[in-house]
Amino acid sequence: MPPLLGCAYYPEHWPTERWATDAALMREAGLQVVRLAEFAWDRMEPQPGHYDFGWLEQAITTLSDAGLQIVLCTPTATPPPWLTHTHPDICRVTLDGTRVSPGARRQACASVPAYQEAALRITEQMVRHFGEHPAVIGWQVDNEFGVGETTRCYCDHCRRAFQDWLAERYGSLDALNAAWGTQFWSMTYHDWRHIPIPGITNEPQSPSMRLDYRRFSSDNWRRFLRQQIALLRQYAPGRWITHNFMIRHWSLDYWQLAQELDFVSYDNYPHGLSDPCEVALNLDLMWSLKRRPFWVMEQQPGPVNWHPQRPPVPAGQVRVWTHQAIAHGAEAVVYFRFRAGRFGQEQYHTGLLKWDATPDQGYHEAQAVAADLARLPDLTRPASRVGIVFDYHDLWSIELEPVQRDFRYWDLVLALYRVFWEANVPVDFLPRGCDPTGYDTLIVPAAILIHPGEADTWREWAMRGGRLIVTFRSGVREPSNIATETPLPGGGLSEVLGVRVQSFSAVPAPDFHEWPEHRPGTRLQSVSGAEVLTYHRWAEALAPTTAEPLYRYQDGLLAGQVAITRQRLGSGEAIYLGCWPTDFGALFRQQGWLTPDPARLERVLLQGGDGAQWRVTLNHSLQPADGLGGLDVRFERLP
Ligand code: GAL
Repeated sequence: MPPLLGCAYYPEHWPTERWATDAALMREAGLQVVRLAEFAWDRMEPQPGHYDFGWLEQAITTLSDAGLQIVLCTPTATPPPWLTHTHPDICRVTLDGTRVSPGARRQACASVPAYQEAALRITEQMVRHFGEHPAVIGWQVDNEFGVGETTRCYCDHCRRAFQDWLAERYGSLDALNAAWGTQFWSMTYHDWRHIPIPGITNEPQSPSMRLDYRRFSSDNWRRFLRQQIALLRQYAPGRWITHNFMIRHWSLDYWQLAQELDFVSYDNYPHGLSDPCEVALNLDLMWSLKRRPFWVMEQQPGPVNWHPQRPPVPAGQVRVWTHQAIAHGAEAVVYFRFRAGRFGQEQYHTGLLKWDATPDQGYHEAQAVAADLARLPDLTRPASRVGIVFDYHDLWSIELEPVQRDFRYWDLVLALYRVFWEANVPVDFLPRGCDPTGYDTLIVPAAILIHPGEADTWREWAMRGGRLIVTFRSGVREPSNIATETPLPGGGLSEVLGVRVQSFSAVPAPDFHEWPEHRPGTRLQSVSGAEVLTYHRWAEALAPTTAEPLYRYQDGLLAGQVAITRQRLGSGEAIYLGCWPTDFGALFRQQGWLTPDPARLERVLLQGGDGAQWRVTLNHSLQPADGLGGLDVRFERLP
């Protein structure tokens, strides 16, 4: 099937008489789907237990009569005033103990029974009403769990739920005390109810407790999701179920949430990010979460209200964003929103139509995308040969204790991904514990938490010809976030890599002026002496056991020590990076692993439904390049 285009529409924001005109304009733009109702709880249940679905039914009829397919959403991101008034404890509590006020959205805490019950009631009523409606093709549960730092709540309901979650995870207090090392600072627990949750303290609380609180909070929303899904499966047979994920969002373990869904969706707002490479990374992550195409459930159509500078979106950009998403595996792109809102918090958010209902730039570009797609066969994403491991728990552990201020797991993953993106080599993301069969290269960034057994799987795969690249800060901690007592890198990695970490060091940022000569250094040299690299943030002195040194530190306190090693394994190899190169691309070039695209264009090879290979070339820059205009796309059928 060719990719679908669509939009988010709020019939409740516009007079009934307008709906048919809007539906006709959507069709003229080439849109086929429309997403409805994710914030309309107040209209569907105006009073507790009194339901009104007539207006939505009428909107669905009008839209589907125009030939549009409908995606319905459960409205549980926006509990109505009667609910928060009757049960003020539904509202989340922030880390400092403040209960948030109602009046925005996502104010509810997933642990509160009154919210859970009300959410399930409206979901059940809604899906009983529309579950088998012929125009409804699928469901989005809720909207963007966690947006605005809302995954974790610190209320008493959460405290009790966390304690119960811990009892189930550890089975006994002895096991928990041992796993967390509670003898540190006199924290041995003899009663589950004595276990604290994160809060404001004069010094940090246990990193084990805080990591488990992140796991619990993510699980809590997964449970909330699962409850709604059970109802949707029961009353909406044959309809798919999804939820819309975000970029740079890691308060939820998306690998786990994705297991509940038929496919994942992603809300693509490239503004506010560093570059198109980061968007590509996230698109690939979304594909990888279920190893299948995903939906872009919201696509930025122009400037957005929430950006502190609201930069302009140049002509051509929306079309390029859309084609980038499709090239990375989106099977639908739904623009947010159809018409710019005339009231509420997002009046300065662009729509496909302006306030005055005339087409905005995004409308014309959606139309251009529809015309592009009409000329193309189905294009699908072929298998990638490179896998990058990505793990939320590793990210959390490092975020809780970065050690070096600028050490961010996401930045490390992005820096490694960028090397492949700049060389136009497609990448999949893989979870911890993965079997990399089918891949040539596996990159393992800062896999700090030990996963028993994983190193053996990776060794066997490398023996058969794989290239395993593991970075610093891997195999350092047990799953409960306490240091391993085996030599680093632990969890069996030391044997696979043929190396031990003798010592590790944070590399202070250049603007850190204390003890200026006490620095690990900044430069590395290949053992042949021919190649030089610089590094920052982290440096480990390595003692190879069976590996050969590839690079040594050149200056500073670590001068002469080994920084990067290679171990031959069967017909493959295992590389250990002891430090964070400032330019990973330089390392990959020096080793002859990859070369970047000279024209700096993004080129994606896709398999055409016509049996041919196709190349999509995207110019993300305003400057023309390689026959393409600024912000332009080319589709080529390869001979
Ligand atoms: C998304 C959200 C939408 C809308 C949009 C604005 O995160 O799901 O409801 O707020 O941002 O860009």
